[in-house]
Amino acid sequence: MRLLFLGDLVGRSGRTAVIDRLPGLIADHRLDFVAVNGENAAGGFGITEAILGQVLGAGADVVTGGNHVFDQREALVFADRQERFLRPVNYPAGTPGRGAGLYMARNGANVLVINAMGRVFMEALDDPFAAIDREIAACPLGEQADAIVVDFHAEASSEKQALAHHLDGRVTLLIGTHTHAPTADHRVMPGGTAFQTDVGMCGDYQSVIGMDPEEPLRRFLTKVPGERFAPAGGPATIAGLAVEVDDGTGLATAVAPLRLGGALSETVPPFWG
Ligand SMILES: [Fe+2]
Ligand SMILES: [Fe+2]
Repeated sequence: MRLLFLGDLVGRSGRTAVIDRLPGLIADHRLDFVAVNGENAAGGFGITEAILGQVLGAGADVVTGGNHVFDQREALVFADRQERFLRPVNYPAGTPGRGAGLYMARNGANVLVINAMGRVFMEALDDPFAAIDREIAACPLGEQADAIVVDFHAEASSEKQALAHHLDGRVTLLIGTHTHAPTADHRVMPGGTAFQTDVGMCGDYQSVIGMDPEEPLRRFLTKVPGERFAPAGGPATIAGLAVEVDDGTGLATAVAPLRLGGALSETVPPFWG
């Protein structure tokens, strides 16, 4: 099976790049399953149901969230009816929506996707390690799930890397999101789990984590807030991680970054051919 995970879509630049190019990527490279983090898709803050529909319509199988998932308040309503939309699983009981789902890939495989949020330098939440363990116990790899993808939305590299060791051999892919800058440590762990501390964003990298630099810079220089943050509008780089999966074990056999367009140098997974 061939998986692709795309990092946080930021604003119009990021989402239009993905909506335009994802159908071609899926067709040209015979991708079986695509997950996309969408927490910044609407003006940098949250996602609307219309945008969610466009991303799913472009071929994403599931859209995950993070700390900005409910910034567009309509998400509090559509989260319950949109089965392909996930918010962090370790939010308090009673939070709208769901934190995990089982989806059928184009090759017929059942893919469990879990979205969780870290607790280091982030808001207080339930233990993500225990919450992910519960979801895996209910749908283990090699039993109900043919592949498991975990989007761990977290600030601290240490927390993401600790989770990688905790999950190694029990999930197909653990991917970090939230920092919007891709790390160069993508690899297959010894137990067979693909891992990258952060996948980066789909957005304009001539920015401050996807935002037009002017206002973030003003706040660093003067500490006086001015305008609201606005997404940078230059050409986006699509940033993701591609994973080749052993259909027998559900573990990863190869992993490589995908970067297309915009300010970063392009790289296409060599095993996509
Ligand atoms: Fe984000
Ligand atoms: Fe985030």
